[in-house]
Amino acid sequence: TTRVILDCDPGHDDALAILLAARRLDLRAITTVAGNQTLAKTTMNARRMCTVAGITDVPIAAGADRPLVQEPLYAGEIHGDSGLDGPNFPPPTVDVDPRGAYELASDVLTEPTTIIATGPLTTVAGLVGHKNIERIVLMGGSTGRGNMAPLAEFNILADPEAADVVFRSGVPITMCGLDVTHQALATPDVLARIAAIGTPLAQVCHDLLTYFSDTYRTYFGFESPPVHDPVAVAAVIDPTILAVRPLNVEIELTGTYTRGATVVDVDRVTGRKPNAMVATGLDAARFWDLMIGAMGG
Ligand code: BDR
Ligand code: CA
Repeated sequence: TTRVILDCDPGHDDALAILLAARRLDLRAITTVAGNQTLAKTTMNARRMCTVAGITDVPIAAGADRPLVQEPLYAGEIHGDSGLDGPNFPPPTVDVDPRGAYELASDVLTEPTTIIATGPLTTVAGLVGHKNIERIVLMGGSTGRGNMAPLAEFNILADPEAADVVFRSGVPITMCGLDVTHQALATPDVLARIAAIGTPLAQVCHDLLTYFSDTYRTYFGFESPPVHDPVAVAAVIDPTILAVRPLNVEIELTGTYTRGATVVDVDRVTGRKPNAMVATGLDAARFWDLMIGAMGG
């Protein structure tokens, strides 16, 4: 299986990404970044999820605590004050690795490794110089609509300069944006399948998705919430669940209304070279089979 580092900001969907990656990939490290909540909270949440999922052999290390240039942007309105509100988590029994994200990642990157990024790209921007990064598969951006701004998706908007570093790095990138993650909906049918598993871990996953459903309904008016981050993990497990196109993606840094937008040359009108495989389609049924399978269903 593929050797991976997961860089994340848990976050409800990040927590499910951790579970899927740990169950189905050769997960060598979890690194954290400030995003959905502060770095202290996202790191605590990675430990919480690993504890309830019995993931005890994957080091967790804290990365960037604030964006490269701008002020921090958090998403407490979606993920709650803890960043992972909803379930009752026991006190975590897995520790933080004292090395920190950069040293831990450097130790893992002594061999070719894929980075999966499901938060703002601040920590990853500090890693792109490494020779052994095979590719970066990230959740972020969109070919059109945003979520935290009309044209900007949260992970890019939370640190546009870091995203710009990553997209200019020359490392092969697969971008799983809102185009595909808005097809990965936790519908009532999905929630019923998870409830039917009947284990404590599945109950935690169900509680996570119930909280996430409620905030997405309140904040965005969505009937069922898009479970963004595990899509990037699923794309590494089984690339055939995505339809992708090689396209040029530029990060808008200065737009009056569009800072943080991923400007994707969908019609190839600019002459700029493709720098990412942009996901345009998702087999949602197979995505959910993978995700629910990782929960034990
Ligand atoms: C992204 O923003 C975060 O709130 C989610 O965890 C996901 O990574 C979706 O825009
Ligand atoms: Ca995330």
